Amino acid sequence: MSLNGKVAIVTGASRGIGRQVAIQLAQSGAKVVVNYSSNQEKADEVVNTIEQSGGEAAAIRADISKVSEVEALFSETLERFGRLDILVNNAGIMECTAIADVTEEMFDRYFAINVKGTYFACQQAMKHMAKGGTIVNFSTSISGAMLPTYSVYAATKGAVEQLTRQLAKEFGPKDIVINCIAPGQVSTELFLNGKSEELINSYRRMNAFGRLGEPEDIANAIELLVDDKARWITGQTIRVNGGFN
Ligand SMILES: NC(=O)c1ccc[n+]([C@@H]2O[C@H](COP(=O)([O-])OP(=O)(O)OC[C@H]3O[C@@H](n4cnc5c(N)ncnc54)[C@H](OP(=O)(O)O)[C@@H]3O)[C@@H](O)[C@H]2O)c1
Repeated sequence: MSLNGKVAIVTGASRGIGRQVAIQLAQSGAKVVVNYSSNQEKADEVVNTIEQSGGEAAAIRADISKVSEVEALFSETLERFGRLDILVNNAGIMECTAIADVTEEMFDRYFAINVKGTYFACQQAMKHMAKGGTIVNFSTSISGAMLPTYSVYAATKGAVEQLTRQLAKEFGPKDIVINCIAPGQVSTELFLNGKSEELINSYRRMNAFGRLGEPEDIANAIELLVDDKARWITGQTIRVNGGFN
């Protein structure tokens, strides 16, 4: 697959899954915007990694929970690279919290980053993305397991799955496909933070291969979705979880 001449925005690409997605899209030839909210040093390191392999990338700061910053992210991308073909709405937050401990502030912050950020980035893509473009949103396979303490996080991802379905028919006439990836447990800060080794091992045993997913497992699936051969797939949520559920 060649993404030569294409331009991608990957939100939350300073670390974790987004970092690997940015690196792999650049390896396939895309020019990549490495979005981050606070971690400039790590975002710059991703850009350097891409440039050292002969790719082109730029780190652009934007808190995607703020619509004005989402708009600025897209206008800076267009100024820098002149077009937009791929949007990976990867940025997201997750902590395990029992319902009794969920605050209004926490609830609003989850929806602002995971749902509002994704939605208004899609709105910018509707305005600026080239014909033949691809959008990949992010859900989670944890929703299917109905585990305790994930209620707010899973609710945000349910909203993302539904907005992906709803938007497919608005993007179709522009020849843009939009899908959702729902990873299982992936070895990143988001998943590992605050979990005991025993708990992590129990998650390892829940899929078909007895290991955690790696960011590459998810980036590989995104490479399939941005391939021209995947253009009949739209409005879908694809569970990429090693058979977790
Ligand atoms: N890891 C898993 O097991 C797993 C499973 C299912 C789904 N997912 C989903 O996969 C996606 C990536 O997760 P991950 O595990 O790679 O997470 P991660 O390692 O915690 O990385 C999160 C990234 O999102 C960025 N970010 C956070 N808030 C932001 C905001 N307001 N604006 C812009 N960027 C923001 C962070 O930027 P800074 O570094 O600047 O803070 C960072 O680059 C998320 O949508 C998550 O829900 C992950």
